[in-house]
Order: sequence, then C-alpha cells, then structure tokens
Amino acid sequence: ETIEMSADELEIGGHQHFMHKEMHEQPETVRRMLTGRLDDRFATARLDGLELEPRDLRAFRRVKILGCGSAYYVGEMGASMIEDLARIPADAEAASEFRYRNPIIEPDTLYVAVSQSGETADTLFAVREIQRKGGRVVGLVNVVGSSIARECDGGVYLHAGPEVAVASTKALTHMAVGFAMLAVALGRVRDLSYADGTRIINALKEIPDQISAILDQEGAIADVAKKIAAAPSLFFIGRVRGFPVAREGAQKFKEISYRHAEAYQASELKHGPLALISEELPTVAIVPRDDLLQRNIGAAHEIAARRGPLLVVTHEDVDLGDLEGERIVVPKSEDELDAILLTIPLQLLAYHAALTLGHDIDRPRNLAKSVTVE
Ligand code: AGP
Repeated sequence: ETIEMSADELEIGGHQHFMHKEMHEQPETVRRMLTGRLDDRFATARLDGLELEPRDLRAFRRVKILGCGSAYYVGEMGASMIEDLARIPADAEAASEFRYRNPIIEPDTLYVAVSQSGETADTLFAVREIQRKGGRVVGLVNVVGSSIARECDGGVYLHAGPEVAVASTKALTHMAVGFAMLAVALGRVRDLSYADGTRIINALKEIPDQISAILDQEGAIADVAKKIAAAPSLFFIGRVRGFPVAREGAQKFKEISYRHAEAYQASELKHGPLALISEELPTVAIVPRDDLLQRNIGAAHEIAARRGPLLVVTHEDVDLGDLEGERIVVPKSEDELDAILLTIPLQLLAYHAALTLGHDIDRPRNLAKSVTVE
C-alpha cells in the first residue's frame, strides 16, 4: 500500500502550529479513511489488510490491545467498542508494561498493536514478544512501511497523513475510528445484527461532519481554555466509556500546557480524591447522554457543592439542572462511538491553554514525537 502525500500536507498552510493544522484536517482525513471501507450491503467494515477470513475472526475469544501513551488510551476506547459491539472480552494495556511482565500469550487472542509512528520501541518489542510466543498480532498504524506495520501479521493503515506535532490529535481520532471498524467487523461475524451493524456504519459516516461542528466551536473553547490555563492542577473525570476520554484529555493537557492534570473515574471520587476539590481545582467532566447520564450529572453536582469550578463536556438535550459552570456541547453519535467525538474538544482545550501560556506547542519540552528508545 502506498500513501499519496501532496506538498501541502507537509506544510503548515495558514495555521500557526502543526497541531492546529492537524486538528483541522480531521474531518477530511477521517472521510478519506472511511472511503471504501464501509460495506452497506453486509452492514460491516472491510478491513482487507487484516488478512483474516470471517472464520478466523470468529475464532478469537479475546482481544488484547497494546500501545503507549495516548495510543494506549485510545486502545481503551477500542476495547470498550469491541466489548460493546462484538461482546468479546477486550482490554488495553500499556505496551511499555506488558513487555516487562512475562505476559501469557494465548493462541485464541487477537493482539492489536496501535501506533501512529509505527516506531515506538516498547510497542515494537511487545509485537515481537507476542510473535515469539506464537500469538497473532495485527497493527493499527499510521506510518506506512514503519517497523510495526512491517512486522505485524496484517493490519489496518490509519491514513491520517503525516502528523508533525508531538501532541497527537488526528492520528488518535483515526485510531478510534479504526477500532470502531474493527469492532463492527468482529461483531458481524458474531451476534451483532444487520440492523445494529447498519446503525454503527451510518453513525461512522456522520463522524466527519460532526468533527467539523466541534471545530466550529473553537472560539468558545478557547475562551474556556484561557480561564482554565491559570489553574496549577486539574481533574478530568469520566466513567466507563468516558474514562479513556478523560485520560486522553488529561494527557494532552499535561503534554503541552505543563499543568498537572489527573484523570479519575467519576465513580471513584468519593473514595478519596473528593477531598482535593476546592475553588482552586477545576474539573473537566465528561457527561455523555447515555445510560450513565444521571450518575455523571450527580458527580458533577457533588463537585459543584464543594465549590469546584466545572467544565462539562456533554451532548445536546442534557438537563444539568442548576449546575453552574462552563459547558461544551458535542454532537451525539451512537453510545458506543461517543468517545471519538468527546475527545475532540479536549484537543482544542489543551491547545488553547498552551497558547495562552505561551508554550512551544509543536515541540513541548522533554518530549519526542516518537519514542524509539526504551
Ligand atoms: C501523544 O500526544 C503523545 N505524544 C504520546 O503519548 C504518543 O501517543 C505515544 O508516544 C505513542 O506514540 P505512537 O502512536 O507513535 O506509538
């Protein structure tokens, strides 16, 4: 497979930073990624590069996803999608930990290595360790011909185009969309119905325009970011499908704003960290309109009752009652796919906080775009 890259894609265009350009490319690159991969007739995704027949896909009894940093957090989103849609036990683990703990490799587990660069040493080593022990590992990789792409037993290219900013944005969105397609493909050889397959495929087609609608709110998100940037520390909270969104949101914030940010399960706050809540500690709460809505709203009210400043990232038609604070409303997808879109405003939030603080956004201190050393 070759990748077509025009000169423009490597240039910054009218943007102040590559990160900004890359966030704004997402509607177009995701549309391109989906082209030819959604199969309306059989209500599934076509991922030929996996080199797995329906019979092979059907035989896996577990899915294990490996990646580092943000790729690991998106792997957690992917594990949820796979459990939701294919009902196969799935989890994600930091490849950097996996490789050091003598992991048990099972023949009926599908291992998935996820990486933008395809050169992350910890992820590459995990791939080799799995293969040495007889496991089958496929890649979800952006850079064509990279080490991980070459060494995996098949895979799916993310087609996000080159990503220059150290803080990953579009590649992560492509990973999440890639996992959604993998989840549908695994689901449709099991118990995911034609109707549910169609529901997900149709929702995926909406994603590019929905991302555009979020990017259109950049001005309002920038205003919130300016207020939040002054805080020395922040909480990002979510639960179940929203928790990896919170983890990725905190990670992006830390990377470029150099502010301490901690992701926490909203459900666990009352078991300790609620003691930290005060006027000084803002919380970004992920509150999707799904079956956990009332619980998430409850957690937000508990924070407000302790005078913690709040930014709620939520959907249309969510009644937050008399909750004070800032709000960002993102378009609703299907519940299983909401994480893809909920993550986008957190990219803009981190970007504008870092801009306010005057940091080197594309090249944050102490970090490299791809970590090729142990
Ligand atoms: C993302 O913003 C980070 N720069 C970092 O966590 C990154 O996702 C991680 O190092 C993995 O990189 P990869 O996707 O190239 O393997």
